[in-house]
Amino acid sequence: MFATRLPATSDDYRRLAERRLPRFLFDYIDGGANDEQTLTANQRDFQSLRLRQRVLRDVRQVDTRCTLFGQAARMPLALAPLGLAGLYGRRGEAQAARAASTAGVPFSLSTVGICALAEVHAASAQPCWFQLYMLRDREVVLRLLQRAWASGCKTLLFTVDLAVAGIRHRDTRNGMLNQGWRGKLARASQLAARPGWLLDVGLLGKPHHFGNLTDCVADPKDLTAFKAWLDSQFDAGVTWQDILWLRQHWPGTLILKGLLEVDDALRALDCGADGIVLSNHGGRQLDGVASTIHQLPAVAAALDGRLPILLDGGVRSGVDILKALALGAQGVLIGRPWAWALAGAGQTGVEQLLAGLQRELVVAMALCGVQTLAQVDASLVG
Ligand code: FNR
Repeated sequence: MFATRLPATSDDYRRLAERRLPRFLFDYIDGGANDEQTLTANQRDFQSLRLRQRVLRDVRQVDTRCTLFGQAARMPLALAPLGLAGLYGRRGEAQAARAASTAGVPFSLSTVGICALAEVHAASAQPCWFQLYMLRDREVVLRLLQRAWASGCKTLLFTVDLAVAGIRHRDTRNGMLNQGWRGKLARASQLAARPGWLLDVGLLGKPHHFGNLTDCVADPKDLTAFKAWLDSQFDAGVTWQDILWLRQHWPGTLILKGLLEVDDALRALDCGADGIVLSNHGGRQLDGVASTIHQLPAVAAALDGRLPILLDGGVRSGVDILKALALGAQGVLIGRPWAWALAGAGQTGVEQLLAGLQRELVVAMALCGVQTLAQVDASLVG
């Protein structure tokens, strides 16, 4: 059956993903921490900002090209690292990396991605950004850093807002955290309702283990043992000292992801970071914190151009991208939108999503009367 309506926005892809994914996976992507107040605020605060329309400025040529940490990009956007993306679409990280490469924007591979670095690099014409969580076993961390560097990654996103995992009630309700019979039954009935996903991703998309960590456990196919190892490895004791240690061991670009406050951003500068991602993990960690776009002006003022800022959380359109740039970000990351596009329509979906975002950015810039990103500043937001 041919679809009679085609997806145009992030939200359209969200609806497609909802129809295709088993409930527990859709909610794992879609949901946030606790009462989801921060998740809601991330988008709502973008919506409450007003752009200023400017006319008669000759906008025949509007250019969204930029350089992100030394890498040329067709627009100031990168795909955020998302764990388990190989469950959203068949070999999902490889498909998304290919789409990002076609669109000319960076792709970030999560520590807990399904596809390994080698598979992602084989699929894409450009090296990806690599995202790392600190693990208790620093030898494993060093091994991952060396492997990433050797495979051509030059940019490391080091995530700092997951000292402990946030509480996500949707995952509890869907049985995602329950290894007992009730959890298994709940998941099995949700899987049975999605035979298309079961065949395409569940069966043909194997193996489903964490590709970058397979040498850390004796039997990577034993997912329970794998999860137990991973849980034991998350290090709640990480401090700024570890950032100094990391700085010594990573010769490339080091970006700290998951800062939200001015004093932390200044500390990142002192520790030798090359940039930050202003992020609340898409509202998945501490519920009740401010939205990222709300925090941006103060952090940008404090850093005063000394450290580039990327922002993520709630970016859903080219208009949102322009608002973030106007308030002081050098670029944005998108998380859920690419997961939904991948789940709903695979590589093509991610390509079309990215093309749509760029088109929206061009039109928004033109109607604000600017031709280049260098002309975007706070005067665009009223
Ligand atoms: C994430 N995020 C995330 N961040 C990270 O550093 N490593 C990871 O493995 C993951 N995994 C992950 C899975 C899923 C399903 C989501 C939704 C998010 C956070 C992500 O990189 C990013 O910060 C947010 O997704 C940005 O918010 P939006 O664009 O989803 O609103």
